[in-house]
Amino acid sequence: MSIRDSDVQRVREATDLVALIGRRVSLKRVGSRHVGLCPFHTEKTPSFSVNGSEGFYHCFGCKASGDAITFLRETENLDFADAVEQLAAAANIELTYDAPGAQRSNRHRKELLDLLERAARFYHERLMSSPDAGEARAYLRRRGYDRDTVVQWRLGYAPPLWDALCQHLGAPVDLLRKAGLASAEQESDFFRDRVMFPICDASGRVVSFAGRILPRSGEAPPKGPKYKNTAGTAVYDKSKVLYGLHLAKQAARTSERVVVCEGHTDVIGCDLAGVSESVATCGTALTKQHAELLSRSAKRIVLAFDADAAGQTAAERAHQWEREFGLDIFVAALPPGSDPGDLAASNPPALRRALDEAQPLHAFRAERILQRAELDSPTGRDRAADEVAAVFAVYPADVLIDADLEPVARLIPMTVADLRERVESARQRQVERTAPAAGDAYDFPPPPEPEEGYFDDPYPDQNAGDGWDFPEAPSAAARRHTGRSAERSVAAREQALLEAVASADSDAASLIVPQLFSLPEIREAYLRLVGEPDWRDRLNSDVPDRELLAHAAAGASELNEGEALDRAARALHRHVHETIQLIRDGAEIPGAESDPQQSEHERMRLRHGWLVWLRDREAELLDPELQVGAAEAVAEWLRAS
Ligand code: UTP
Ligand code: MN
Repeated sequence: MSIRDSDVQRVREATDLVALIGRRVSLKRVGSRHVGLCPFHTEKTPSFSVNGSEGFYHCFGCKASGDAITFLRETENLDFADAVEQLAAAANIELTYDAPGAQRSNRHRKELLDLLERAARFYHERLMSSPDAGEARAYLRRRGYDRDTVVQWRLGYAPPLWDALCQHLGAPVDLLRKAGLASAEQESDFFRDRVMFPICDASGRVVSFAGRILPRSGEAPPKGPKYKNTAGTAVYDKSKVLYGLHLAKQAARTSERVVVCEGHTDVIGCDLAGVSESVATCGTALTKQHAELLSRSAKRIVLAFDADAAGQTAAERAHQWEREFGLDIFVAALPPGSDPGDLAASNPPALRRALDEAQPLHAFRAERILQRAELDSPTGRDRAADEVAAVFAVYPADVLIDADLEPVARLIPMTVADLRERVESARQRQVERTAPAAGDAYDFPPPPEPEEGYFDDPYPDQNAGDGWDFPEAPSAAARRHTGRSAERSVAAREQALLEAVASADSDAASLIVPQLFSLPEIREAYLRLVGEPDWRDRLNSDVPDRELLAHAAAGASELNEGEALDRAARALHRHVHETIQLIRDGAEIPGAESDPQQSEHERMRLRHGWLVWLRDREAELLDPELQVGAAEAVAEWLRAS
């Protein structure tokens, strides 16, 4: 089912982007644009700019950009169709769908959603006030849930009656079955005498339920499965839904992580312990679709599965999605026999600590291998080392540094150098396995300079940023963490760069490109500086960036040529360094043409070529001998992109 393109266009045009964004961000008009604090990263000075007439936004800080549809998708975690539908409803536009019958199926979905919402209200109402829900209320209180908790999670109670819900909803039983609310065999309710957990999609619409069996005080445990879950329906697919996501995604924006648990009660427990960015799979293992969904809320994913073997095995499978969706997956070590819900009730600080101190997935997997290995025989050690090497080899050489290998090497035991060598050969084997067929290999030149043998060492040299004398964190992600002081130093740095541009007797200005300025005010001053040769003469008139320019002129007069060039080279180095991080995190390569005809493999190879080229320039920019040449090359590339 897809929405007709012309309708999507109409929806875009009918939407007032400034009003839409204005509901979330306080915007100020500046000329033809509106600016405000970026909702996609933490900042103190506004670098988020909205162009209402063209219908797009852009953040100069974190580079987030898009239109009304993207904005809604990103901020509400909606998929494309949901976002368009929401905007269409607001603009009173009737959508047409391309596939025949799609419109009908859309109406059908709405019908089911409506029933599910009414069912949630019914169950909740019963729990809050019905006399037959006394045991359920007592049970929830015993678990430490007060009224607020029950209201927030819309918990409910399915009465111990034959067809109370069906009667209440008064819809055809066939439709109730399709919503998962009536039993498949009889004309009766699907859930009876259970504590109800409504399950919502990412935008908070009820799509299914889980019903927990109700233990009664002083009685033997009731028979039947502990949890009964809605089976798949037209609006519910358990492999695509995460319990609590609609609430977690807000919290994830500040905490920059999502905690993944196995049960509904774990999510509620985490929330009570102050960890609101948590979700649960609903009676299923974590799927690829879940991973994709999670990646829209945060990059850092903390798995908080039961310490039992099944939970641990589930965690091991997740590594496939780290690269695919650019996730950093961590595994929390919970005390044996306890789940996050238990720990939240017994010891909230211990839960928070376990989550904060979660181990990277590769370290967790290595540890599991070593636990099973026979480390007292040479062959056992040998095999364990190879298994660990295979786990580590999927990460680029400079992601896993010696400090990561060291604890593992010590356990085997072997030297770090030996372990690294094994990892290298495991990586080599993996590269060979995925390498292109002979003949077409490597004939795709990496722009801008093809180099011999660039494939041999995928990621040469260690972190070239080390020893660099900028004390603050270089990457955009790290900047988000460091808040105000880093923000101020960004301003100081960009002002210093502005001085280098203003410095009359230096070539530095030709190496400094607009991309090096992330703060809108300074960027605008820079543009005036290079765009208006007579800017010095106009410092007394009322140009908006007069202060910045006067400052730059004063600073520039004390700058010698070497210093100016050095500032340019440093800024370029930083930019290259950050670009490398972003590309690794999955961003497009600036200036690289993407050819739709290109195979995935070619694309990877091209990308790889770029990474190598960038890393070489990154190193040269720190070398006084090579600095200027490298700076020229990088500036030229940035100008072209
Ligand atoms: P658990 O047995 O760990 O339950 O099952 P829990 O979440 O800790 O629940 P409480 O704290 O005892 O109330 C974990 C998850 O496995 C699924 C449910 O999604 C549950 O949340 N499950 C479990 C079922 O689907 N059916 C079952 O019978 C049991
Ligand atoms: Mn539990």
